[in-house]
This record gives sequence, C-alpha cells and structure tokens, in this order.
Amino acid sequence: MNQGDTILQFQNVSRLYHQGGETIRALDGVDLTLRRGEFVAIAGPSGSGKTTLLNVSVGLDQPTEGKVWVGGQDLTGMSAPELAQLRLNKVGFIFQSYNLVPVLSAEENAELILLLRGVPAAERKRTVHQVLKEVGLEGLEHRRPSELSGGQQQRVAVARAIVAEPALVLADEPTANLDSKTAFALIDLMEKLNQEHDTTFLFSTHDPRVMKRAKRIIYLLDGRVEKDVSSP
Ligand SMILES: Nc1ncnc2c1ncn2[C@@H]1O[C@H](COP(=O)(O)OP(=O)(O)OP(=O)(O)O)[C@@H](O)[C@H]1O
Ligand SMILES: [Mg+2]
Repeated sequence: MNQGDTILQFQNVSRLYHQGGETIRALDGVDLTLRRGEFVAIAGPSGSGKTTLLNVSVGLDQPTEGKVWVGGQDLTGMSAPELAQLRLNKVGFIFQSYNLVPVLSAEENAELILLLRGVPAAERKRTVHQVLKEVGLEGLEHRRPSELSGGQQQRVAVARAIVAEPALVLADEPTANLDSKTAFALIDLMEKLNQEHDTTFLFSTHDPRVMKRAKRIIYLLDGRVEKDVSSP
C-alpha cells in the first residue's frame, strides 16, 4: 500500500452516526489519495462531512467502514497511544479557534510539540526562533495569546503545527475567524510553507476565495465526494 509519495489514503471510508433512531452518513464511501506536497481544500455545505473527514484522517475518529493510511501506515486496529504517536510524528493541526494555551507565550506554544518529542532545549529554542520568524512573528515571541490579534494567534498556531516538520498539516476552517485580508495573508503563509517545505496541506473552508487558492478542491455533499478538481 505504501506507494512512494502517498501521504494520505482513504479506501471506501464511511462514518455513520446513530441518533434518535436515525442513521447519519457523515462520510459515505469516500476514496481519496493525497500525495506529498499537495495543497488541497475540502469544500461543501455545513454538515457535508468536512470535519469528520479531517478527524478520520488521523484517527481522532474511527471509520465505521473502510480503511485509512497515513504515510503508508494502516490506522485500522492501531491503539490510542499508537495513533497519538503517529500524530505527534507526522501531522500538524490548525484549528478555527486557534486552540493556543492561554498562559503560555507565543514561543512556548510553538515549542510544545518539540517538548513532547523530547528535542533538547537548545535545539528547541533555535528551531522555534526560526519558525516564528518564518511565520512573521519576530519580536512577538514573549506575548501571550490575549496580547495578540486573531491573525497573529493563528500564525502562532501555524508555527506550532509546522515546528516539527510534519508531512501533513490538517486545518479545519483555519480562516473562519479572520477578516478577509488576514485570511488571505494566512493562506499566503500556508502556500509558502507548502512550497518551501513540500508539506502537504489539507484544509476545509466555506470561503470561495480561500478555496480558489487551493491546487485541488474536494467537494463533499452528504458525506460523498461530489467533485475532485485539480487546477493545471
Ligand atoms: N458526534 C456526532 N454525533 C452525531 N452526528 C454527528 C457527530 N459529528 C458529526 N455528526 C453529523 O455528521 C454530519 C457531518 O458533520 P461534519 O461536522 O463533518 O460536517 P461539516 O462539513 O464539518 O460541517 P460545518 O461546515 O458546519 O463545520 C452532520 O450531519 C453532523 O450533524
Ligand atoms: Mg466542520
């Protein structure tokens, strides 16, 4: 199954929820392959399965049917600690509401993943300094989230997501809380990181202008891939 540069693969993935005697097909027979370096948007109306797809991609949620591989590793049957380890080593996350630790500075928030990975202090400091500079936060390293704008907080979240150079970055509506100028600046940054580090990005969005910046758009409808469109 490990086909060279395949980062993420879905094979006939369904995720069913049962609620009040009703079955909801949040994902319904999804087949998908993402290769290294792709810059992909997931589009679709509210409830179409975007968040479920992102969660299932990295074992935060389990498929009812079908299989998921991350970097050639089959997630089926992996234990919770094994999944956590895989996420720590291979995946970065960016959330709509930033999810920074409020009592930690920008620098400390960005450092978290390196701490968890057991990277020595001097190397952590060097890497974090470099990454914060790369996301345009030089000089703001010691500020806490409450002392930063929404766009700046999301840049800290991006720094945290990429600090350990994951193969895959997942983002669930990363621009939803940002004004359009700040949203485009964030997409510019993600695109730059995608090009310079060959990091694969998979992000959901409702904003057609953000969508247009993707090289590939996967349109979901009722849990199914309605269209999968790559730009030349
Ligand atoms: N934990 C859950 N229990 C029951 N139903 C759920 C659960 N999580 C999601 N669903 C349902 O699954 C479907 C897909 O939800 P999902 O959150 O993936 O959609 P989405 O495309 O991310 O929507 P939005 O654009 O509003 O964020 C919806 O019908 C939703 O109500
Ligand atoms: Mg969602």
